[in-house]
Amino acid sequence: METVVSGIRSTGRLHLGNYFGAVRNFVKMQHEHRCFFFIADYHSLTTHPAPSDLHAGVRQIMIEYLACGLDPEAATLYIQSDLPETAELYLFLNMNAYMGELERCTSFKEKIRSQPDNINGGLLTYPVLMAADILIHHATKVPVGKDQEQHLEMTRTFGTRFNRIYKVQYFPEPYAFNFGTELVKVPGLDGSGKMGKSEGEGNAIFLGEDPELIRKKVMRAVTDSGPVQPGQPRPEAIQNLFSLMHLVSSPDTIAHFDGQYNACTIKYGEMKKQLAEDMISFTEPFRTKIKELSSDGDYIRKVILLGAEKARSSASKTIKEVREIIGFRKF
Ligand code: TRP
Repeated sequence: METVVSGIRSTGRLHLGNYFGAVRNFVKMQHEHRCFFFIADYHSLTTHPAPSDLHAGVRQIMIEYLACGLDPEAATLYIQSDLPETAELYLFLNMNAYMGELERCTSFKEKIRSQPDNINGGLLTYPVLMAADILIHHATKVPVGKDQEQHLEMTRTFGTRFNRIYKVQYFPEPYAFNFGTELVKVPGLDGSGKMGKSEGEGNAIFLGEDPELIRKKVMRAVTDSGPVQPGQPRPEAIQNLFSLMHLVSSPDTIAHFDGQYNACTIKYGEMKKQLAEDMISFTEPFRTKIKELSSDGDYIRKVILLGAEKARSSASKTIKEVREIIGFRKF
């Protein structure tokens, strides 16, 4: 059994891409490992210093993860800002994080380009905060994608540097948790490679999406109705529709449209109508659960309190030990 930590971005809603990517795997992992999943609301301030409603955003994300099956008893589900121990570890790690390595980080360089008017210290030290999130629980596995690999490498650097400077074997080295073949690629509806990748409304189907809106979005999906050449690879937009069908439709349905495609008799309007209905059925339980949880403030409060409590029992031990290792002592 490994200790697993993962941070969840605190804005936006979950779409099918998120579900078939990380979320479904979190649900499985929570019964096999010691898992900590938290909503990264501290981190969100690096890009949104004064969010219009931080609280509502965090609450919504918590509800959607619960609706997907994250179990507050099995895993530790908490809000980053409920664990100020993380901020204290961040402070200690910052003392031994060097300007050069922070400036060289790819995500920082990207942020310099994307928000030139707000190149703040939090952005520069984003990887240090992320390292604190991970090291505070002594995690060895972090389920993240390729885009976070460099941050993970920096986490190992900060952890081993701490060990070296204070002459201890304290922090373990965390590595990416590889889902291997279980990661499915979920294309967007606007012909873009990945659901959620582009900001455009209409690219993603959210788990809590209204059925009427699902129909509208799917019917507007890009299709290429040019002549079909038997034996040729399918145009990307068409392949995308089939890929989406593979996630939500029955094998019979897929075989039916596959056959029509190969016989050059396919009508994309019909295919999309079917896809929309299958997406509506697939998302139905999520939609219902999200609604149910949204009106159960008592339960949400309980979940968040329990998460904070469980996270704290792990983190407070780390902070106490780190203070002793560095040399802070009670007078
Ligand atoms: N940087 C991660 C992202 O953008 C979020 C994150 C913050 C995280 N802290 C973490 C992920 C700790 C894993 C572990 O998706």
